[in-house]
Amino acid sequence: MKLSSVKNLAFAAGLLSGMPLLAAEKATVTPLFGNVADSITIPAEIYGQFAEHLGTCIYGGLWVGENSPIPNTSGYRNDVLNALKELKVPVMRWPGGCFADEYHWTDGIGPKENRPVMVNTNWGGTVEDNSFGTHEFFNLCELIGCEPYLSGNVGSGTVEELAKWVEYITAENGPMADQRKKNGREKPWKLKYLGVGNESWGCGGSFTPEAYANEYRRYQTYCRNFNGNRLYKIASGASDYDYNWTDVLMKNARRHMDGLSLHYYTVKGWNGSKGAATKFDNDDYYWTLGKCLEIEDVINNHDSIMNTYDPDRRVALIVDEWGTWWDEEPGTVRGHLYQQNTMRDAMVAALSLNVFHRHTDRVKMANIAQIANVLQSMILTRDNRMVLTPTYYVFKMYIPHQNATFVPLDIKTSTRTVRDGRTVPTISATASKKDGEMNITLTNIDLDSPAEISIPLDGVKASVIAGEILTADSIDDYNDFDSAEKVTLRPYNKAKISKNNLQLTLPAKSIVNLRLKI
Ligand code: AHR
Repeated sequence: MKLSSVKNLAFAAGLLSGMPLLAAEKATVTPLFGNVADSITIPAEIYGQFAEHLGTCIYGGLWVGENSPIPNTSGYRNDVLNALKELKVPVMRWPGGCFADEYHWTDGIGPKENRPVMVNTNWGGTVEDNSFGTHEFFNLCELIGCEPYLSGNVGSGTVEELAKWVEYITAENGPMADQRKKNGREKPWKLKYLGVGNESWGCGGSFTPEAYANEYRRYQTYCRNFNGNRLYKIASGASDYDYNWTDVLMKNARRHMDGLSLHYYTVKGWNGSKGAATKFDNDDYYWTLGKCLEIEDVINNHDSIMNTYDPDRRVALIVDEWGTWWDEEPGTVRGHLYQQNTMRDAMVAALSLNVFHRHTDRVKMANIAQIANVLQSMILTRDNRMVLTPTYYVFKMYIPHQNATFVPLDIKTSTRTVRDGRTVPTISATASKKDGEMNITLTNIDLDSPAEISIPLDGVKASVIAGEILTADSIDDYNDFDSAEKVTLRPYNKAKISKNNLQLTLPAKSIVNLRLKI
């Protein structure tokens, strides 16, 4: 009998007898303090965001314009601005996505009334007025204190256009700098992350890997470092399981890049229904977690190809699009990719972040898709209202892991075989330490049973400072405009240390972070 069936029987027996459910799972999570390498820091950029001109991500989500009745600061929504400041967003990728390879940056500078309108051909044919352009993006990054990550147009642009964009943004003097100054920005901005094309195998130009590698080499040559700015150049990488793309790019262009991207979505498939964001059964839920965790195999496989060309791991793998992709919500504009976000999405976020933490020797940045109103977003907006999604709260809970030293864990837990034969552990966890504190974040994916967790501390003197929990009555619970706080962070104070052993019970379908003084 499969373990999943055993668990279901235990649950049914508990219900029939009316007895409180016992924790079916007893897991041990051992911090391997002896294996902590101070050099292995979790880059803050693992918590990166992606903001594309798609649906209401930019227009309506981040930007409403200075004349909007919605409270704003220079055109940026105040509610969203504050929520993003609290999230300590380290890096934001813009303007796409597929949009980037049709974007002509000169349309988005200068007086707003002179900017041409454009048709967003990738995403629903929406007409945009270009009121959010280069200045609006870079000023937003300054306001929330994050690094900008610019995605350049290779598919329908020119080398000159991209070279001049970099010059416009980063040069102190010269014709492009003069134009920028005329448009109201005296000092150059800092630009570190530059993507040269997006999904160049598809919406970014339908290149073969060989042809794109040549284009990449040519484009990046003319993207210069002005006045002490140092570009970190990212080549457009593979989707999911396209290992040949990584192989060819590494073989032909690795010396010219700092990073190579990877896109991996937790999606049922690209044809037909992807499933509703809020309506799914238990099997769908467990399948989702299996598909999400498969990103670890995908990273390992790309990493081992990269290792053959780059054993010192100089070139980073940049997971600049990831997250869940469900059917668009009924009644919303087709092509705008607006989806709700439940506790299931929160689980995907936590499990994915745990995977990234284990691979920071190669994975130096990840950007969840997307920041507002699109796919697995942090924030949903409607008119002047805003809700924070369960995924937002996972990112908030994980803030202490940014730039902290990774603490490896040995996890002993049961596993579950899900539809399609993938295997999912019941308990997942991650830990890090910084400034005399350790944060350990634990997830119990089981829908029915709590789990007793034992964390041996191996002689390390510790005390619990605080705890937080994210859970829901039902896995398909979500926050909406009339119930914005249904799924939110709450204090958790049930962890105890006894005989140098940290013990707690993780409720079913919950994510708990414990902050320890060590
Ligand atoms: O995030 C939505 C789209 O997914 C992006 O524009 C594209 O790069 C990917 O296919």
